[in-house]
Amino acid sequence: MRPFPGSTAPPVGAACDRSSVAEPVCLADFESRARARLPANVWDYIAGGSGDETTLAANRAAFDAVAVLPRVLAGCGVADTGCRLLGAEAGMPVAVAPMAYQRLVHPDGELALAAAARDAGVPYVASTLSSVALADIAAVGGVTWFQLYWLRQRSAVDELLAMAEQAGCQAIMVTVDVPVLGRRLRDVRNEFSLPADVVAANLAAGGKSTAHSVIGGASAIAVHTDELFAPRLGWSDLEWLRARVDLPLVVKGILDPRDAVRAVEAGADAVVVSNHGGRQLDGAAASVAALPAIVDAVDAVGSSCEVLLDSGVRSGVDVLRALALGASGVLVGRPLLWGLAVDGARGARRVLALLADDLRDALTLAGCADPAAARTLAVLRNERGTRQ
Ligand SMILES: Cc1cc2nc3c(=O)[nH]c(=O)nc-3n(C[C@H](O)[C@H](O)[C@H](O)COP(=O)(O)O)c2cc1C
Repeated sequence: MRPFPGSTAPPVGAACDRSSVAEPVCLADFESRARARLPANVWDYIAGGSGDETTLAANRAAFDAVAVLPRVLAGCGVADTGCRLLGAEAGMPVAVAPMAYQRLVHPDGELALAAAARDAGVPYVASTLSSVALADIAAVGGVTWFQLYWLRQRSAVDELLAMAEQAGCQAIMVTVDVPVLGRRLRDVRNEFSLPADVVAANLAAGGKSTAHSVIGGASAIAVHTDELFAPRLGWSDLEWLRARVDLPLVVKGILDPRDAVRAVEAGADAVVVSNHGGRQLDGAAASVAALPAIVDAVDAVGSSCEVLLDSGVRSGVDVLRALALGASGVLVGRPLLWGLAVDGARGARRVLALLADDLRDALTLAGCADPAAARTLAVLRNERGTRQ
């Protein structure tokens, strides 16, 4: 719609100037504030994707293309966002995605984000590459899941698992989409490296590493992870892991239904449909586009394996969309780093509170009493309006 001639108002639907709003009222309001606070190279490390960032953009476009058919006269009033994730109660069907080196954006780093997750009643997934010791993160007192990057030495993997068990983590999430780090061109151009005071606190050699050296024409983080991560993993490794841990096992980074079925057969309790926030294979499918076929495949083998999703979730409406497409819950990544960068634990708490409020409204407006009811909603998923 065009504005009236002479009007200075932006056209309806145009992006508003978010920095002029006094208080953030949605997750996106934190983005510009975080960007203004962070050094440009740290912002690029967080915001960037791999290659031409086509998958990064596709994640949002695919969410925007999902149109929910709300139910009416459902007689349920204001919805309850509470649910169960991996068998435990949660305040909403959301977990904090594992994200490396959170002290890059705020000195309290992982401790602040874990405290915000605890207060919102949602799981906090601690990365192998956390910049705070896992025991200290778990001591914050919420539900902590440990994200495993498979290191080259099996003994080092075993030590990380023992550390997670000892810390009282409630699940192990193994990330399977990083045989090598995706080529993140922003980091290559910036010759990005870690400042000396941000370390991989859970790795024996994390204190001072390749990640801290400026390497001409390269991202030091990528060179460091290539040194660390085992590039040649197979299904037998997942079977080894399943036999090794008694905790619930989550496999993160699946886009093909055949892999989801293999993960179920190997004993996964949940899979995360994810393209790593567009940071691994550029050109990979948007997670939300891949989700329905994976839900169908997991259902078809009669498994109780939960299907979670991440990459591009930016609102409660996006959570509703994912639930309507069959997910049990979602992980949220970058928006929590925006909140953390803006105001530490308080900022991250605010992001989670806005997400919960938005989800509650979205469920209520869709005629759903709770997240489980949202999984019965119908959606239209393309411009031709094909019913899914
Ligand atoms: C700065 C940053 C660091 C990340 N570090 C990890 C990590 O250590 N382990 C992992 O499995 N995924 C990591 N991811 C991927 C996230 O877990 C998640 O898949 C992704 O951010 C979800 O997309 P979103 O940011 O659009 O919500 C990272 C993502 C970002 C943005």
